[in-house]
Amino acid sequence: MVESNQRMHGTWASRWTFILAATGSAVGLGNIWKFPYIAGENGGGAFVLVYLLCILLLGVPVMMAEVMLGREGRMSPVNAMRFLTSRAGLHGWWNSIGWLGVIVGILILSYYAVIAGWALNYIFDMANGSLQGANGAAVSKHFGELLASPGRLMFWQTLFLILTMGVVIGGVTRGLGVAVRILMPVLFVVMVILLFYGASQGDFDAGLEFLFSFRTDRLTWAGVLEALGHAFFSLSLGMGAIMAYGAYMPAEAPIGKTVVTIAFFDTLVALMAGMVIFPIVFAIPGMAPDAGPSLMFQTLPVVFGNMPGGLFFGALFFVLVTIAAWSSSISLIEPAVAWLIESWGLNRIAANLLLGGIAWVLGIGTVLSFNAWQDKTLAGFTYFDALDFLTSSIMLPITGLLIAVFVGWKMAPPVVFAAMEDRMPRTLRLWYTLLRFMAPVAIGVIFVFGIYNKFF
Ligand code: PHE
Repeated sequence: MVESNQRMHGTWASRWTFILAATGSAVGLGNIWKFPYIAGENGGGAFVLVYLLCILLLGVPVMMAEVMLGREGRMSPVNAMRFLTSRAGLHGWWNSIGWLGVIVGILILSYYAVIAGWALNYIFDMANGSLQGANGAAVSKHFGELLASPGRLMFWQTLFLILTMGVVIGGVTRGLGVAVRILMPVLFVVMVILLFYGASQGDFDAGLEFLFSFRTDRLTWAGVLEALGHAFFSLSLGMGAIMAYGAYMPAEAPIGKTVVTIAFFDTLVALMAGMVIFPIVFAIPGMAPDAGPSLMFQTLPVVFGNMPGGLFFGALFFVLVTIAAWSSSISLIEPAVAWLIESWGLNRIAANLLLGGIAWVLGIGTVLSFNAWQDKTLAGFTYFDALDFLTSSIMLPITGLLIAVFVGWKMAPPVVFAAMEDRMPRTLRLWYTLLRFMAPVAIGVIFVFGIYNKFF
């Protein structure tokens, strides 16, 4: 069975291809667009600290568990979980880990494509010079015009979904490994250049102070829940992406070291994005760190519009954001695609068109959340806010919790330890303890307090 499934979907060429693919999945809009703006909304420093703790103490252990489940199951999350639960003689209820994952992936993809569409649009807006020399007000106006136009938003959303389906139809391994290997380092270099620019032109001290001074007064339990949910979102956890990728992983690769490498790059890119964006925010009059989803699109164009060669670098930057989003979106759709191929007998093309179509329709609600439906809110949530909250703050923590309990308490320990293939027994035991005790308790407590604080 293992072999026939590897033939059905393909496998990564090496451990490094897996690292690149998983890093490509992890590093995306979550790091460059979302992390800075939610840190801004939650007052900065204290949120960042909580986020880092969530990555280290909860994200990394759960990610190791998820990779292991995928590699043991060697199939799409739904069928991997089905195989693992029946092998362990457990109730079919546990299959919900796979199901939820596939559903959350498509829900996230639906709004992810809309936001990625903004980045795609900005490549052209930067390159054609319409933002040359723009100040804060002009840039805000420019962005406002994009959001006010459902037609424009849907054009770019559609284009991004086509790009996503294009890659996944061709199979994940082919082409992608190569692309990621070239583009991830370029992204990194451009970030470093921007960092220097932010440091020299922006208010670097104010920016760093905002990000790293751990004032706790602005942080609420709802903010802690958001940090936890975002840690899972950023590492692509709790929705089968990492499980699906784990299924294509070479059998002998050490899971612990691999996962720590991925988490390190993911965190580094998020912090760098914050260190680029906040110094600029504090240097532009009238710009606030809590601007929300528009933060990146209103700060960076001001920088690019006023720096030498800025049009080129600006366009390049948004190309890279698009690519980062692209290498993530393919991992949002792949688990469901693999499942439709295995269980419904569809081919890759049909599976992609069906799922891409569903994501496209669901995405229209997100498009309208920024214009026609802006004032249609439920408990203060627009459609987009509600979808974001439901996926990141509710569903990802819940599946993360279920994964921790399943691996920590339901699978037999010898099976777990054999599957981890690690030659460092002490770190492995630390991992097991974190997963069994720390993860369920911490996720449970944060979840309950966070929901209570948010709504009551
Ligand atoms: N990790 C991606 C990001 O930070 C988003 C993502 C979430 C991708 C879940 C796949 C699965 O942008």
